[in-house]
Amino acid sequence: MCGIFGYTGVKRDAADAVLEGLQRLDYRGYDSWGIGVVHDGLHVGKKVGIVGKTQSLPKSSVGIGHTRWATHGAVTEINAHPHFSSDKSFILAHNGIAENADVLKSALIKEGYSFITETDTESIVRLVEKKLSKRLPLKDAVRAAFKELTGRNTIIVLAKNGDIVAARNGSPLVVGFGARDAEVYFSSDIFSFAPHVKETLVLDNGQMAVYQAGAFAVYDIASGKAVRAKREKNLLKDVAVDKGSYPHFMLKEIHEAPFVLRQVTHESENKYRELARAIKKARAVYCIGSGTAGAAAAQIAYYLRVYGGIPAISLIGAEASDYRDLIGPKDLLIAPSQSGETADVLEVLEIAKQRGAKIASFVNMPGSMMTRLSDYAFMAHAGPEICVMSTKIFVSQIAWGYLLAKAVEGTLPAGKRNLKQTALTIEKMLRDKKYVSLIEDHAKRLSKSKDIFLLGKGQNLQIIKEGMVKMIEGAYVHAHAIAAGDLKHYAITLMEPGVSVIATISNDTVKNDTLNAVHEVHARGASVFGIAPEPEKSFSHYLPVPDSGETTAIVNVIPLQLLAYFMAVTLKHNVDKPRNIAKSVTVR
Ligand code: BG6
Repeated sequence: MCGIFGYTGVKRDAADAVLEGLQRLDYRGYDSWGIGVVHDGLHVGKKVGIVGKTQSLPKSSVGIGHTRWATHGAVTEINAHPHFSSDKSFILAHNGIAENADVLKSALIKEGYSFITETDTESIVRLVEKKLSKRLPLKDAVRAAFKELTGRNTIIVLAKNGDIVAARNGSPLVVGFGARDAEVYFSSDIFSFAPHVKETLVLDNGQMAVYQAGAFAVYDIASGKAVRAKREKNLLKDVAVDKGSYPHFMLKEIHEAPFVLRQVTHESENKYRELARAIKKARAVYCIGSGTAGAAAAQIAYYLRVYGGIPAISLIGAEASDYRDLIGPKDLLIAPSQSGETADVLEVLEIAKQRGAKIASFVNMPGSMMTRLSDYAFMAHAGPEICVMSTKIFVSQIAWGYLLAKAVEGTLPAGKRNLKQTALTIEKMLRDKKYVSLIEDHAKRLSKSKDIFLLGKGQNLQIIKEGMVKMIEGAYVHAHAIAAGDLKHYAITLMEPGVSVIATISNDTVKNDTLNAVHEVHARGASVFGIAPEPEKSFSHYLPVPDSGETTAIVNVIPLQLLAYFMAVTLKHNVDKPRNIAKSVTVR
């Protein structure tokens, strides 16, 4: 998803500072980018493709930049941000979707404004121009224009005198301060400027950050009044955002699964018990997420049902509209999310909050909107997850859900022991080079398949969903997760020689039901790749996984994520940045 960045300061060249910021934002997913600086007027360099050195921009102490994930308008240089005002007095970059852009555009055209791009963003640029033409100072012109926008938008404006104004309603906006405020950074996430700042400040929706003539202030957009915004100590200064010795972030992050499991056990037991009490008191409990986090939300709901005895329901972020009017003040929503900014989920949480429901979240990115909305805010403390495909965070989310369910059950200490043991089990698997190369061999074989089916049941049902999502994202293959018990009702028609089926099985109460489905597909000639504690005669290929009791499903995630990784590598795909998808979708 788009990223915005801004820098003003005396220590660094602005173009270099912004370029580094965009490179640290690139994991969010984009297709084009641009940088603008002030040097006797405004200079902008924009490009389609990977962020890199742009045509030489002049030395400057202030600049902004943007990575674009196209929503309105083709992926072209002219559509890339930042965009110039007609009189070149300012440039603007935008993250989000101005849902009323077309309405604004036709009104502005009637008033004589011309448009040169296909973007919704340009309507915002022309609207700011219109406000400026009424002799409003920049801050007030941006504020007046921003108030007319509908949808979730965050913008940053750089004037040719070096003033910066940024406004947030939806997509994230954070500010970083160097020592003695000698440098001020603006961005979509804290990691992008973490090495350079001592303090950070996260803007809320409906706020604007203004840097004018060397002074920084925050304003409420609705009232125009200055607000006291709380700065926080930057705790991420030394967090490494590099691959280390790994060829890809994805492999590094899969190998961080044991670390994230231990992080989940380090959270205060009182925090778990406090949320457990709220869960037991709630009239209804909804677990909600999108993409990989949607599967995690469903697994969390599963654990709450099985270990907590709570009739928890799971919702996909974009598919919760039929529940909105059902949510009330006695209900509780639980949102696992890496970014904490996924618009589909935020929208439901905001409505639930307005209806008096309580919100719990489990988020990895500090300062996110979901954390700020939450009555029970948990952080994954998993370190940055750079690969667009979520791996360690999925493991972290379901482990957290398991522990929360154990807290509801009143067996939190046992849950922690199980997770610590699971971390050791996964560590052993990942260290076993023979085991990992066996998975790589299977991945090479599976990467030849056009369709891959995954079978699972009970605790493994969302695990095969995760496997499906990873294979689709990584191998661009049609993967299809099927509840084993549902196979005979439709998907069995597709079973024939040459079809690949991955079966994920555990020593649990539904093992035989899953094996029945395996026998049925095997009988029809499908090639079955069994991921299970013991081999079965119907397995054409077999990968042993240790039986780790209640946390077996968490262990089963690892071979599936490694399979997807090696398939992506075999197919020579851009493993850390698969085509078309973004790390965090902050627009609906
Ligand atoms: C998608 C990402 O855009 O958003 C997925 O590509 C992710 O990896 C999903 O699972 C949800 O994102 P988040 O930040 O809410 O976990």
